[in-house]
Parts: sequence; C-alpha cells; structure tokens
Amino acid sequence: MARASLRSAPLDWTSDDPHLMGNFAPVGPEIDADDLPVIAGRIPPALRGSYMRNGPNPEFKPISYAYPMDGDGMIHAVRFDNGRARYRNRFVLTRGLMVERRAGRAVYGGLMRPVSVDPALVGPDGDPGPLKTGAFISVLRHGGHLLALHEASAAYEMTMDLETIGEWKAGTAAPISIGAHNRRHPLSGSMFGISYRVSEPVLDLHEIGADGALRRSQAVALGAPSMIHDFVLTERHAVLLVGPAIFDMAAAEQGKPLLQWRAELGMRIGLVPLDGGAPRWIEADPFFVFHFANGFERGSDIVVDYVRHQDLGLGPRTGPREPPRAHRMVIDTMGLRIAADDRLADFPTEFPRINDACEARPSRFIHLPTRTASLTIPGPPSASFNALVTLDAATGATRRHDLGNRLAGEPIFIPRPGGGGEQDGWIATYAYDPATDTSDLLLLDAARINEAPVAVIRLPQRVPQGLHGTWIPD
Ligand SMILES: [Fe+2]
Repeated sequence: MARASLRSAPLDWTSDDPHLMGNFAPVGPEIDADDLPVIAGRIPPALRGSYMRNGPNPEFKPISYAYPMDGDGMIHAVRFDNGRARYRNRFVLTRGLMVERRAGRAVYGGLMRPVSVDPALVGPDGDPGPLKTGAFISVLRHGGHLLALHEASAAYEMTMDLETIGEWKAGTAAPISIGAHNRRHPLSGSMFGISYRVSEPVLDLHEIGADGALRRSQAVALGAPSMIHDFVLTERHAVLLVGPAIFDMAAAEQGKPLLQWRAELGMRIGLVPLDGGAPRWIEADPFFVFHFANGFERGSDIVVDYVRHQDLGLGPRTGPREPPRAHRMVIDTMGLRIAADDRLADFPTEFPRINDACEARPSRFIHLPTRTASLTIPGPPSASFNALVTLDAATGATRRHDLGNRLAGEPIFIPRPGGGGEQDGWIATYAYDPATDTSDLLLLDAARINEAPVAVIRLPQRVPQGLHGTWIPD
C-alpha cells in the first residue's frame, strides 16, 4: 500500500500560519537513507533499535488548521545497528488522507472549522468526516503491533518498515477508539488507554493485554463531555485529571466553539481502581493538563508528576497567563484530598518524559524541553523549544543542554542495553538549525545531559517539529 504511493516531490504549497512555517512546515518526500553521517561523537555500538517520532504533516494545504489538532501523520524513524544509523519517513495512510489524495486537495476542515464532506468523494472506505482521523499524535509498539495514534479515535497499525496496514482492531471485530497516550502496567504488561466521547459525559478506559488483544473496557462517568489528552497509571489505579475543557454540541450548533473552557466546573480528579471498583473523585480549582510524566503509589498516597497549565488557552483572556510548568501532586487516597501540589521548577515546559521502564512505579528524573533566551528566532510559535532539561523531582536539581538558536522536541529515553539504573541510557531528540535548514538526531547521555552530545547524526532532510515519539528496541 505505502510502496504504491511513495512520494518523492516536495509539497507545492505554503501557508502564513506560524505552525505551518519554518520548522513547523510539513515535508513531502518519503526518503530511505543508509549510513547517515555522524557529524560529532560516535553512535554507541550497543544501540540496536529504532527511534520513531510522529507529528502533524498535512499533505494538502489545509482548509482550516489548528496546531496540534489537525493534519496528517508522518513518522520519521532512525534505526541504529552496529554503530550505524539509517533513516526512513512515511506518511500514515489514513482513510481520510486517501480520500484527499483521490481528490488532489484537502476536503476535510479542521477542529475549529469542520467541513461536511461530499459522500461521493468519501466513497465506501473513506473517512466520513467532518473531522479527519489524522493518526499524527504519537507512535508506539505494543504486543507486536506498531501503532500511529490519534485522539479519541482509531489508531493505525503500521509495519516496522512504516507501511500502513490499516485501522487497528486490538483483536476485536472493529477498530477501537483510543487516545494518543497509553500507559503500560509494570506487573501485567497490559497497556491502558483512554478515549473520551464528544457528545456524552463518558470516558472509556481500555486494557489491552500484553498480547495486543483488548482485555476489557470500562466506561467511566464524567460530569460533562470533557477533553482529556493524557492520564497516568499506578500499580492499582488509573488517575484522571479532568479539567473543565468541555464539548458543547448545542453551542456548536449555534456556530459557537465546540470546545469551551468552563472554569466554574473546576478540576475533577478521578481515581479509577484497576480491579474494576467504583471511581472516586476529588474536586479542585480549575487548571488543565495535557501531559503527565509519571504517576505512582507511595503508601496510601498517589504521586503525580505533570505539566500544569493555568487553563486550556481557549478564547480571550484577562490578565497575564502563567506558562506551563512541571508540578508534583500528592493525592491522599484515604482522606480523598490533594495533600500537596508543588511546582518542581520555574522554567516553562511541556512534553515531559521519563525512562519508560519506571512507568507507574516510583521515578525521580523527568526529561523536559524548555525555551531559553538563546533562541533568537523572531516570534517563535508555541511548542518552540531549544533546550533539554533533566529535572530531579526529589531535589529540584536540574541539568540543561542548551541548543542555542536550534529547535528541539520531546526527549525520549533510550535504555542502555544491559543497564538498569533510571538514568542509565541516552536521550534522543530531533534538532533543527534554521541557519542551515538542516535537522540532526541528537543522542545525549541521560545522566549528563549538559555535556556534549554522545552523537550528532545528520538527517537527509529537514524533520519538522513534531509531537510524540518512542524507542523500539530490536
Ligand atoms: Fe500529547
């Protein structure tokens, strides 16, 4: 399927949307390149596997575009073997993208401006719309399945060569609706995922066994239809931080925004026992969370490391806005209250990651991108980062790798083969230099992120600022 539609041409359109310009602009060519040049350092010979990262990469000039909610998926992969690296990138051939390829133009609108699609264009197998399932938010492998993930919709299964297989059914009869952020249970190996519903106050919590088959789904009742991008898992709970980002179908029918910030509803924190017991809820003042670093049980407390947003940032606001910052919340599960919620560091951040081996277990180190004064690109759009930080949540100590006037993305932890410590491995990210219009893959020593890179690998084309990635060992 992917072979027949391999693109070699650059995209033939531009946009004045800041999130479609500079290194946010999508790329067209699908490239295979072996023996990538290592321009600094050396690739650790023990490194065997693939770093993959997904991101929004609209092939056709969008009718409406709201970063990071619209686009087509494109996965950029670098595979390491025996001290050498090779690159491959491919579009995720979703049903919606295939409809647009047949039409030769964008036919779907976007989250902020949905457009009804002519059924004649959609055909029997196309994405009916009005929103396109783009499968551009994340990528991961579970139970032998490589998945390109979207939000509250079907994931697409890919081959390890990045050919699109189709919508993922998790061993069931029909594609399952799942989010981009999924968490693996440290004891069972099951993957837990969530999917919200736009028109009902319900969130579906799925457990997908280590074999890749759906084991069970639990419908969790919410106060209102809510947008929930991520959650955390502990050994005994799924923890939901449900901010007041509310879908309002009635408002949408009157031409108002479908997604609304309703501060008066506050934050509701749900503790969903993994044994199937009834969820318990804690009420709090309103804030919003896109991404969590980790969560874990500590006695009768639950610790949650996350990035706190003052709100979702929709519509006009009064007064200054706090930048998103890393926080550690301690939830007292006996008293059913927030025992503490402390800012871990003052720098603005997003896209927190940890050593995934520590997921749902006590962890100490959080890897985060941030923006410093050495980024001199004028008017950088949101999600423009130029430094990576390792934050010790126990002490607040940080180590920082500043890339100057270069853009970087989410830091992915790669464990050292045969290693074991939380910091025993490397950090990978794509970095873009606007002065030369080139992208590199950086490998940093996770325990000494501030030091010179272990390896800098030059990529055969610019890699746009994307969203989430993963490490897949061979
Ligand atoms: Fe995300």
